[in-house]
Amino acid sequence: MINQPIGVFDSGYGGLSILKEIVQQLPGYDYVYLGDNARAPYGTRSFETVYQYTLQCVKWFFEQGCPLLVIACNTASAKALRTIQQNDLPALGTEKRVLGVIRPTSEIIGHYTKTGHIGIMGTTGTIQSNSYVIEIEKFFPNLVVSQESCPMWVPLVENNEYQSPGADYFVKKHIDQLLKKDAAIDSILLACTHYPLLMDKILQYMPKDISVITQGTIVAKSLEDYLQRHPETAVKCSKNGQRYFFTTGDTADFNNHASLFFGEEVQAEKAMLM
Ligand code: DGL
Repeated sequence: MINQPIGVFDSGYGGLSILKEIVQQLPGYDYVYLGDNARAPYGTRSFETVYQYTLQCVKWFFEQGCPLLVIACNTASAKALRTIQQNDLPALGTEKRVLGVIRPTSEIIGHYTKTGHIGIMGTTGTIQSNSYVIEIEKFFPNLVVSQESCPMWVPLVENNEYQSPGADYFVKKHIDQLLKKDAAIDSILLACTHYPLLMDKILQYMPKDISVITQGTIVAKSLEDYLQRHPETAVKCSKNGQRYFFTTGDTADFNNHASLFFGEEVQAEKAMLM
């Protein structure tokens, strides 16, 4: 349908905050976005379920002709990416490439902190997988990493309640709980693509001397580096500056929400997963 676009996947709207930065960094490429809104949130689902859902979506992207896919969802990156890369890709076509968001973030996170103490805020699935602790250890073995799962934050965003008083309660609660774990934290990673929507409230309750890190520019930069280091993949990705949006959920709902994350109006089509 669309040449050979770069795929960007998320359980819902969150990955649009990553796509926005990718498009800014690499405007020439074609992109196809899929939000699995019908089955979001992924954050509280089992490993097996997140893996099965993600694999089904990966196959959909390959059917659209994508040579390269970015899983712009921390939960899916934590719970499905490694198995898909190791077990499924060889059978699906070894020339296809699937990247996640945890590794590129872990590779540079240590450069943000002066105290060497950082905090990670994410979904229950991302935090329980311990993926960030394991990956960060490889690049910054001396960093002290504390984690906090925030199970209500994605539902607040997905249900359009991110500006409500309920959001104040849950944002403050989890920031306080994280900082109680380690008072020396000076940098906090928002390890979920939905969380930038809560930024106003996060900054309201975060001590001013703590830096809040989002992933959009990190992932966009790392994709640019990847394409430079892998010209054999870059050359397969078509370049007409086109963007296509798909959702497994309701297209009108998607269009209403999407501009909040993407910064411009979008017209989504319905994706039928096999
Ligand atoms: N936006 C996804 C992430 O980055 C998760 C949202 C969900 O729970 O589905 O983790």
